Parts: sequence; structure tokens; C-alpha cells
Amino acid sequence: MPSPNILDLSRGWPAPSLLPAAALLRASQTVLTDPNLFVPALQYGDDAGYELLRIAIAEWLQEFFSTPWTTVGRICISGGASMALACILQVFTDPVYTQNVFLVTPTYFLAFKVFEDNGFTGKLKGVPEDAEGIDIEYLEQCLLAQDIASRNGFSQPPTGISRTPQRKLFRNIIYCVPTFSNPSTKSMSIRRRQQLVQIARDHDSLVIADDVYDHLRWAPHTSSRNESAPPVLPRLVDIDHEMGGGTQRPGADGFGNVVSNGSFSKIIGPGCRTGWTEATDSFTVELSQCGSTLSGGSPSQLTGVIVCQMLKEGALLRQLNEVMIPSLQRRHWLMRIAVQKYLIPQGASMSDSNGGYFIWITLPTPISAKDFTIRAASDEDVIVAPGDIFEVSSDKGGFRFDREIRLCFAWELEEALAVGVKSLGRVLESMLRDCQELEEHAKVTDVEIVDFAPAHFSGNRIRTTHL
Ligand SMILES: Cc1ncc(COP(=O)(O)O)c(C=O)c1O
Repeated sequence: MPSPNILDLSRGWPAPSLLPAAALLRASQTVLTDPNLFVPALQYGDDAGYELLRIAIAEWLQEFFSTPWTTVGRICISGGASMALACILQVFTDPVYTQNVFLVTPTYFLAFKVFEDNGFTGKLKGVPEDAEGIDIEYLEQCLLAQDIASRNGFSQPPTGISRTPQRKLFRNIIYCVPTFSNPSTKSMSIRRRQQLVQIARDHDSLVIADDVYDHLRWAPHTSSRNESAPPVLPRLVDIDHEMGGGTQRPGADGFGNVVSNGSFSKIIGPGCRTGWTEATDSFTVELSQCGSTLSGGSPSQLTGVIVCQMLKEGALLRQLNEVMIPSLQRRHWLMRIAVQKYLIPQGASMSDSNGGYFIWITLPTPISAKDFTIRAASDEDVIVAPGDIFEVSSDKGGFRFDREIRLCFAWELEEALAVGVKSLGRVLESMLRDCQELEEHAKVTDVEIVDFAPAHFSGNRIRTTHL
């Protein structure tokens, strides 16, 4: 439960009031009292997952994204997006053969360790965002430089990890959250999505698209449900299909270049540990042959059967459309209004989006986000996520976010959101005042300020120069 004293605006979880316990209870009761359901639910699951759930997900996605090609053969059940990411890397990459992992940055930081666990320590590279999403020219330059290095003999054969003859290894991985990104909240334009798929194809790359927020969308800048949300953006995996991904294209190997990584964590609850991937049929079969699945059966078998029941009963759509989306929309709106009132007049700016869980704030210069985070916690008991945790820190000379913070509007009580942001406004005001005093003090005493952050934060930040 949220703590009564501390306001946690960093936690990217759904609020307890949003969890559909009653619907889960009903679905579980149905499943656990019917042998046709509880026997498969309690046994090892099929490699690609419970077939009725795969069918139900395919039908739901077909309808939502208007993608008639989303059929059961393209869906593989996962234990959530994080576990799916690990399995995808295990099956489709080799830590030596696969040259690079490009991460759109700022990056969902908990993905870093998954890449490192799969042998990619030191190979992670940040790719910045621009107004349309991923900076495609930057990415292309990196890939071209890689191609030259490979031609000059720097390329190495795979390490020889066990593989089936048909197994596909990709040369590069590109990781992104194309819609309502965590943390920047950006959504990639359609043009940029097309460019990204083309580049992935040209450079034997697999795009892993964390599509975990796509369903959480609403009309921007309003709390009213009467206004309709902008059109649903096609996923990268849909663009890959439309551009002849899989076997339709001459010379194509059938695997395509994109996998969509979906999850019920943000829609039902993270404890479900159930998600799905969508990709070409060949990709899906290969992914389902991941060693841990062959041994343990599909992950999330019991929960998957219960989620399937929710989908069949219409409970999932009711949860989404009647609980989750209206609440998140209202929360987003309330937090935006508070940011406009308490932070923007002091020189901060905020991201503009119409979905997801977050708002991404840029603090005014010279405020350091790290110092701000410490002050918010110590002075006001408000926790926020500082921008630097979303940096690809091992990418030396990479992109830095030392003035950014991420706020989540999904976790705390609705009425606490404005209170929290108001507190942040006080912190900002106080820090700006400290900076001004320092500046004035410096003028009087002839010192050069090398960093405007208040000295008591990070030790010695003032250098006397005796001009
Ligand atoms: C972009 C992104 N991917 C993956 C996850 C984790 O998903 P799951 O709970 O399905 O593993 C999160 C959770 O915050 C996320 O924001």
C-alpha cells in the first residue's frame, strides 16, 4: 500500500485501487472448478502457451490494432515483458556474433541488467530521441560504422552456443518503447517507425519493441471521456508485416525484424507475470523452443488460463475501458495541471503525451536532477526518479539526463498527486533561491561558481579564484 507519510511518484506500478481482484476471483473460480480448465491450467503448458489464450489475445489485438494478420501462430505466451526479453535474447542472439545492443535513450532502466545477464556488458549503446522518436540518422551512422568494422575483420563467429540448424541469430538488437515510452513518454511517428524497420532489415537487426503501454491511451489534455483518443498507432511489428516481413519478401528468412513484447502487468497487475509476444510464425515457433520453456512448459500457465477466462468473459476489456483508462486519464490530467501550476512557472518543462504511466520533466538550469531528488526526499518526503538512472551509463560519452526527472501518476492516491507536485514546487523554489543567493554571494566575494547546485549537497562545488 502507498505509505501515508511518503509520496512515491517514482514507482511505475498501478495503484491498489486499480487492481481487478474481484474479476480475477470470478475468473479463478470458474477455472478452478471446471476440470476442462483446471487440468490444463495446472499441468505443463504448451511450448507457445495455452492455445485458447493465444487465440483470445490474437482476436483482441486484431480488433484493437486493426491487424487481420494477427493470428494465433504469431502469438507466444510469456511470463511478462521482462522475462520475454530474456528469452528473446537467449534464443536470437549470441554475445559474440551479435555486435551491438542499441537502446533508445532515456531507457527503461531495468532492461539493462537483462542485456548484461545475456553477455552484452560493454556492448550497450544509447541512441537519442528526437521529436519523432528514435534519432534514425544517429542509429544509421552507428550501424554503418559497425558494417565497416566487420568488413575490416573485426567480426567474430558465434561462440558456438547450442542451436538448432534453423536457428536465427541477429547481428544487432535495437530496444525501444515506441508508444508512450518509459520514461520519456514519447511515441514514435509512423514515418519513423517505417524508417526503423527498414534500417533493421538493412543491417540484420532485431527490433525488440516493449509495447506494454499501447492500450493505455486517451484524449490529450482533458479528463473527459467524451473526447476520443487520437488514432491507434501501428506497432513496429505491424509495419514489419506490411513491409513484407517474414517470408513474403524475396530473400526473407521468415523471421522478420521486429518482435512486439506485450504484457498484462500494466493492465491487470504486475503480479500476474503474464504477457505475450507477437512476431512472425517462424520467430514464434523458435522462441517457444527456448530451453527453459521446453523443460518447464509455457510460463504463467495457471495465470494464463485465468487471464484467458477474463478475456472470454469480457472482464479484461471492462477493466481497461471502465477502470484503468478513465482513472489513468484523470490522474494524468490532475498531475499535468499541478505541474503547470507549481513547476512550469519556475522554468521547468514537461513532456506531452496521451497515454502510459508517466510525465517526464526537465528542470530549469542550473538545477541538478540528482540534487533535486535528494532534496525532495529529505525536505518533503516525496520520491521521484532522477534522469540519470535512465542513461546507458556504460556508453562512455553517451547521452545524459541530469536535469530530467520522471513522475508516475499511476501509483499514489489520486488526491495525493497534486499535493506531491506542490511539494516539488517548494523544493524547486528553494533550490532556485539557493542558487541565486550563491550567485549574489559570488559577485560580492569574487568567487567563480563552477556548479550552481547548493554546496551542502555534493560537497565542494565552489572554487575561489581570487580574480
Ligand atoms: C517499458 C517497460 N518494459 C517492461 C516492463 C516490465 O514489464 P513486465 O512486468 O511485463 O515484465 C516495464 C515496467 O515498468 C516497462 O515500463
